[in-house]
Amino acid sequence: MDWMVQTRELSKTYPRADGSVEYAVNNLNLEIRQGEIFGLLGPNGAGKTTTIAMISGLLRPTSGDAYIGGHSITQQPLAAKRLIGYVPQEIALYPELSVRQNLRFFGQMYGLGGKEVDRRVDEVLALIDMTGRQKERVETCSGGMKRRINIGAGILHRPPLIYMDEPTVGIDPQSRRRILDTVKLLRDEHGATVLYTTHLMEEAQELSDRVGIMDHGEIIALGTQAELTQRVGEEDRLEFEIGAQGTTEAQMAQVQTRLQTAVAGITHMVYTPPQAENRGDQSPPGHLTVYTRHGYGALPKVIQTLSEAGVQIQAVHVLEPDLEAVFLALTGRALRE
Ligand SMILES: Nc1ncnc2c1ncn2[C@@H]1O[C@H](COP(=O)(O)OP(=O)(O)OP(=O)(O)O)[C@@H](O)[C@H]1O
Ligand SMILES: [Mg+2]
Repeated sequence: MDWMVQTRELSKTYPRADGSVEYAVNNLNLEIRQGEIFGLLGPNGAGKTTTIAMISGLLRPTSGDAYIGGHSITQQPLAAKRLIGYVPQEIALYPELSVRQNLRFFGQMYGLGGKEVDRRVDEVLALIDMTGRQKERVETCSGGMKRRINIGAGILHRPPLIYMDEPTVGIDPQSRRRILDTVKLLRDEHGATVLYTTHLMEEAQELSDRVGIMDHGEIIALGTQAELTQRVGEEDRLEFEIGAQGTTEAQMAQVQTRLQTAVAGITHMVYTPPQAENRGDQSPPGHLTVYTRHGYGALPKVIQTLSEAGVQIQAVHVLEPDLEAVFLALTGRALRE
């Protein structure tokens, strides 16, 4: 097995005001394969940025070490850093310079010269879809464009390993789409290994070959999405939007009793009445969520029972177990704020 990144008992502590220590990262043993997109998923403050900063050589570990392509980041930092392209969480660009000038600057910083730097800049501009806007000053670019340029700056030297720290935070859906496609392209066409952090479950799910779920400085679960969801054995969820008329909470309680006896395999149900603050002409729907082992199998019987009880079904979604459910099962908390 070719490991691109290995951390060994990697830790970072900070002193607290009361004299105790906080483990921002706690004895982390993480292994990332060559050529994979590894998603590091965790809520705010989980330790994602601290991990990336340490394995980039930007932050000194309190203890432990990380190996990049076999080179220790603390003992052989130059050899290790040569393999890394780092796209930081904070945008680091020169606002008064043009898009192209910014990229050229970073290229020269990586030691690229002459024709080579211009060739790479052209390549990166195409990759981040900014060729047509390369002459614009960065300060006039949108947030989404700045993020894409930030990515371009981090990968100009074609590093085999790329770290991206929450690259889609606070941007428009179109730029977000482009960034996700760029990440896949870097893996599929450049053969790059990508370590990608996010607190968005959907992004980790879409992109990652493997996911590490991080919380309080530790990896609490690691594997492919299928492995992770299987491990906690969460049920499917049937989510119904229910018309408001004729569905008081008392009636819905009766409906749930009928469902429980009529349909095998339901573990529990949650009914949320229509939310009153919803204005407009149409009355808002209530929501009934049915948790069951075999969502699609149970669906016809659930619909039949609801219809017979006079419940007006406006929409239904069948949701399979996801990383959100895994996080909830492991921590008792929701991943989203
Ligand atoms: N310089 C510092 N001094 C003290 N505590 C710090 C410092 N940097 C980080 N921490 C703490 O370490 C923990 C991990 O922070 P980190 O920035 O790595 O989290 P994160 O997962 O990147 O979160 P986010 O999603 O908000 O970016 C947090 O509790 C944070 O408060
Ligand atoms: Mg962070």
